[in-house]
This record gives sequence, C-alpha cells and structure tokens, in this order.
Amino acid sequence: MSISTKPLATPPCAFAGALLERYVAVRQHSERLAVPLTAEDMAAQSMPDASPTKWHLGHTAWFFETFLLTPGLPGYRPFDPAFAYLFNSYYEAVGPRQPRPQRGMLTRPPVEHVLAYRKHVDHHMATFLATDLSAEQRSMVELGLQHEQQHQELILMDILHLFSLSPLAPAYDPAWPKAPVGRPGRFRAHAGGLVEIGHDGTGFAFDNEGPRHRQWLEPFEISDRLVTNGQWLEFIAAGGYRTPALWLSEGWATVQAQAWEAPAYWRRQPDAREDIAAGWQVMSLRGLQPLDPNAAVTHVSYVEAAAFAEWAGARLPSEAEWEVAATAGLLEQAHEVAWQWTRSPYTAYPGFRAAAGAVGEYNGKFMVNQMVLRGGASITPPGHSRETYRNFFPSSARWAFSGLRLARDSRSSRSLGGARDTLAEVPQLVSEHTEDAGLQADVLTAMRSNPRQLSPKYFYDEAGSRLFEDICNTPEYYPTRAEIALLQRCAGEIASLLPPGAALVEFGAGASEKIRLLLDAAPHLGAYVPIDICADALQRASNQLREAYPSLKLIPQVDDFTRALRLPEQIGKCPCVGFFPGSTLGNFTPDEAVAFLRGARRLLGRGASFIVGVDLVKAPEILEAAYDDAAQVTARFNKNLLVRINRELGADFNLDQFRHQARWNSAAQRIEMHLVSTTDQAVTIAGERFMFAAQESLHTENCHKFTPASLAGLAARAGWKVSHQWVSDAPEVALFRLV
Ligand code: AVI
Repeated sequence: MSISTKPLATPPCAFAGALLERYVAVRQHSERLAVPLTAEDMAAQSMPDASPTKWHLGHTAWFFETFLLTPGLPGYRPFDPAFAYLFNSYYEAVGPRQPRPQRGMLTRPPVEHVLAYRKHVDHHMATFLATDLSAEQRSMVELGLQHEQQHQELILMDILHLFSLSPLAPAYDPAWPKAPVGRPGRFRAHAGGLVEIGHDGTGFAFDNEGPRHRQWLEPFEISDRLVTNGQWLEFIAAGGYRTPALWLSEGWATVQAQAWEAPAYWRRQPDAREDIAAGWQVMSLRGLQPLDPNAAVTHVSYVEAAAFAEWAGARLPSEAEWEVAATAGLLEQAHEVAWQWTRSPYTAYPGFRAAAGAVGEYNGKFMVNQMVLRGGASITPPGHSRETYRNFFPSSARWAFSGLRLARDSRSSRSLGGARDTLAEVPQLVSEHTEDAGLQADVLTAMRSNPRQLSPKYFYDEAGSRLFEDICNTPEYYPTRAEIALLQRCAGEIASLLPPGAALVEFGAGASEKIRLLLDAAPHLGAYVPIDICADALQRASNQLREAYPSLKLIPQVDDFTRALRLPEQIGKCPCVGFFPGSTLGNFTPDEAVAFLRGARRLLGRGASFIVGVDLVKAPEILEAAYDDAAQVTARFNKNLLVRINRELGADFNLDQFRHQARWNSAAQRIEMHLVSTTDQAVTIAGERFMFAAQESLHTENCHKFTPASLAGLAARAGWKVSHQWVSDAPEVALFRLV
C-alpha cells in the first residue's frame, strides 16, 4: 500500500486563505502518518480502547462532512451514506454507530476507499472554505482541525499498542527520534495564593479548558522535570509493585489482576534482574530499544504514578498547580516529552456549559471517572497543546504517552497550622530562577548523557562572537542580510504602528545595528531601552547611538534578556514595544521560546506590542548551506566551542578528529549543528575521561525555522496574537508584530 501525500488540487475558486493552507497541512499530516503502515496494520484493532488507523482516517473526514459540509455546503452529497454509521464515534445526537470495540471488524471499506473518501471531503472543503464563512463555521473548521490533530496522536498511540503485541516487535519508524535525556528534576517553589486558571478565550481552546476562574492554592513545590526511567527502576528495585501500602485500592487490584511489574512497554530480558537498566528493553515507535535510565518514564497509569509519588515521599500536582507553574515558566519538559498525570479528577470548571448541538458531546459527557493529564507528548502535533489543555484518561490506562512530575506541599505551608487572615499577605509567586550550572557543570552533564547536547549560549566567547559576525558576511548565510533588507523596506510601516512616546525595548541588543533603521523611521519614539547581558558591548553601542541620536532618551539595561523582570522606572507609563530581531527565537526549544515570549509579555505590560524576527522554513539545501558555508566559517564557529572547553576546562579535544555537521531535521523543523567524532577516541575534560565512538556526535545548536502558522501557534501559547507580518524576498525571513 502506498499513500501519496501530494498537495490538494487547486480549489475551484481562486482562494488562498490561511485557513485553507492550515486545513491542507493538517489533513496531509494524517496521511503522512499512515505512510509506514501496511493495509493490514491499518485495519487491526489491538484492544477495545484503540482504533485501527483506517478508522481514524475515515472518522476525521466524517467529522468535516457531518458538521460542516452536509449542513453548510449547498448541494453537498455524502460520499457514501453507510459511512455515517461506520465512522460516527460517539455522537448520540447524530445517530447509531459501529460499536467501538468492533471497529477492527471493518475489513470493508478497504483503505483505498477511505482515502478516496478523504479526497472527496477535501475537495468539497476547499470549495466550502472559499465561501463567506460565518464566525460559527470558522470555529467549527478549527475544531475539526484540532480534532484531527488529536486523532493524529491517537494513530501513533494505537499503532504502538498494536505493534507492542506483535512477537516481531515491528518499528513504526526505525528513525523515529530517540527519547531526549537530561538531568533529574529539581523542586521549584510557588507561593500559591489566589490564582486564575483556565483559558481566557483568546485563540482556540476546547470547551473543557474554560471558563477561566479563580482557585486557591496552598504554597507548593513542583519538580521542573519529569520522573526518569532510572528513578522508576529504583521504585521497582524497592519492591514498588509488591507493596500494597503504596497503592490506591483500585491500583493494587489492577497490579494483581494484570500482573504489572513495570510500565506498559517495558520488556524484561529472559532471566535478567529487574533492578538494573540492562535487564530491560522498551517497545517504542523505533521498535524494541534498550532502556535509557536518563529518559523520562512513559506509559505509566495514574495509579502507578500515584504509587510512585507515595514511595518518593511526594505527590502528584493538581492541575491548577501544574498550570500556574507552567505559566510562570517553572517547568521544563512541559509539552514535548510525555503527558503528565495530575491528581485532579476530570470534571467541569465552575460555569462550564457544553456547547449547543451535537458537538456539545465533544468533552462534557466524559467528565466522570477519569483523571486529568497536562502538558503534551513527543507525539502531540507541534503547536497543538497549550498550558490550559486538559487531556484525560481512566486511572488504569497506560497506552497514552503518559509520565509524571512530582509535587509536594511546601515546607512553609506544612508549618502554617491554619488559614491565613488575608489573601493580600500571600505573594503571588516565588519563582527561583534556574541558575545556569556554568560551563563546567553543563559540559560534564552533557558528556554523561546520551545523546550529548550542549546549550548554544556557550558559543559566544570573544572569538565565537567575532566568528558569528563573520558568518553573517558569508554568501550562504542569508538571514542577517535578508532581515536588514526587510527592515529597510518596512521600517516606515512598522514605525507608523508605534504609539507616539512609546518605549522601544530591544531584547539582546548587542551592537544594536538594526535598531537604527527603526529609530530613523520613528522620530516620535519616547525612549529606547536596549537590554543585553554584556555590559561592554552595551556601553559601546550606547555611546555610538548617543552620538547619532542626541535627542533620543536612551536607557540601557545590563540584564539577561531571557529573564529580565523589570523595566527601568524612567519609562514611567509610556506604552512599550518589544523588538527581538535576528532569529534568536529559533535557538530556543519551543518551550523556552514560549516561556521567553510570555516573560516578555509580562515585562512589556498591558497593551504592548512585540516585533519579532525569525527565519522561515525553506528548501533544506538552502538551509544546510547557510549553516555549512564553503569557506568553513560556521565550522570554525562550531569547533570554537571545543577550543573554549579545552582552554577553560583543561580539556584535550583534538579538533581534527571532529567534523562540523549541519543537518535539517524536518520533523522538528530545525537545522541541527553537530560536532561528529571521526574516530573512536577518548577525551579528558576537567580530569574526567569520556569515550566518543566514531560517528557519535555532540549536538551543539538547534536553529528552528518557522511558518507563519507555527510562529502564530507559539505566540498564542504565550498569550500573543499576530497582528501584522512582513516577509522578505527569497530566501525568506519574516517579521511579525504580536499584540
Ligand atoms: C544567533 N542565531 C540566530 C544564529 C542562527 O542562525 O541560528 C546562530 C548561528 N549558528 C550558526 N550559524 C548561525
């Protein structure tokens, strides 16, 4: 069976709306997920809770047909009237349906027919989207797309469950990314108090995420990272699965009935000890893999997570604790590794009303006997989740990509001994900034991990900063030139959007070159506030600007722009506009980018806008050349990291035995820079010896590339909305105005 993922034919009407573009992208992604599967894989149902891929593909088309085309497109005729029965999931208001546990009996229609159904629906949706849609229809389209993304995750969950039952343990995709590894979690403190949670109605959210409402939280601590396989092994070794006192009654009954001794997809090697990593393999989308003790544990149920927390002397966070901690930027691995069990039952928020009509059945009727998970997982489509997202499963389910992070009551609240008198006494947030561990600690942690990855911030010593300037002048590295040309073209328009007297706040200002284009175009600015951690560079740039713009109110701030908490008082009540050009946003992980954008929103204050420059997704050849120029400047920039480690940590990296590599990772939409060992070798760093096998890499940087839709999704997670965008001539970079 081969599935083509060709773009949809041009719609009948000339129509190039963003909604259609998004529709096409989401629909194609579902079909792309089916490419590695055989027709037999797509028809099988491994358990009553899982569905065949073929059914997911049919059902998601049915959703658009039933809720949009049939009621909304004049003259539309359903592809096959029988499909109303086959592909209805659970909508009582729509009619009877194939029982869920028997979806695997649907050997007919064959996959080809289901794909033809999708084409039919897509063709008519293109016509439908070109008509003048009401606001209600547009939100139903959005619901259909979000619904389809949920099924994209289900396709992968269900296939993994199916393959886990096969004696052949097939790999869905042998090149599927390995689970990321890292340091164990640290507890972060939150002062609790009166908080607000839930979606505020800006941008899309499922109905169960609102209304936004207040909750009272006692002070608590929450781990900034997820529980790892290694920590779970300790739980097993301590007899966790044999100690009834740790378990909720339902959990203990399940442990015994199902003979659980480990997470769902762990397989013990014959005769191996249960308490060491080498004794286990894990079934994954890459097939059967050795257990990595440093990766997050996944495929555990709520009852297992609760037992683990009990054993660890902690507890699971409530969903409100999780949400305020995530919003405050306290959590790593929030959205991209595994959904995280909370101790909150899935129930309606105060004021919740299910929507009118059949889609009112979407979430509300499941609000019983399930527990809430927060965050997102490695298989969640990028941009689909957000801080207020509420996933839910029954307490013994473990085929979702579900893990956990720990929480506990804070020490101060344990000794509180009673209620506080007034709410005002409680500070809203005690956020401990994650301290940079420093070069030595970060390098050693990276070297002890697998795969090995270091933060790109260590590139920029004096030589590294000079080399980066040289990169910007290579013929292949287009982003700087393209952004300057774009700013020259649209500075007037941007300036016209800056309120008179506004303070322009530049994040990571450095040499502040691009800002001159804006300053020239906006004499009505009230102040310019460059923020940079490097006092010398800031001083130099400020002196030059003072000379060139003698009447400009210049207020430089020495600070880490990713963490700045306060703007200078001299700004007073001026409206603020942020400026963050240079594609630096792309060097953050998506979670870091969201935390940064959210922090900037808080810093800039109410009514602010934010001009952000990023590089756009384009042909891999152009991207790879930009990061692997013929004159080898980028290679020297990359290897300079080893020079720095040799110098500052007394290491003995042999630069000739590492090769610079820039590769496009299409799944993550990023260029990755690596230093690849050309031979088996040993390296000593700060007195510790590490082995590199030939071809093993040190991952040094990610440079994410965006589409207008992916940037808007990221911004939305941080509470921003795109109001304007400007795109350069090819090779394209873009500036976005967020409000
Ligand atoms: C600083 N940053 C935006 C550059 C980029 O393109 O991601 C860093 C860089 N790394 C290699 N070449 C340029």
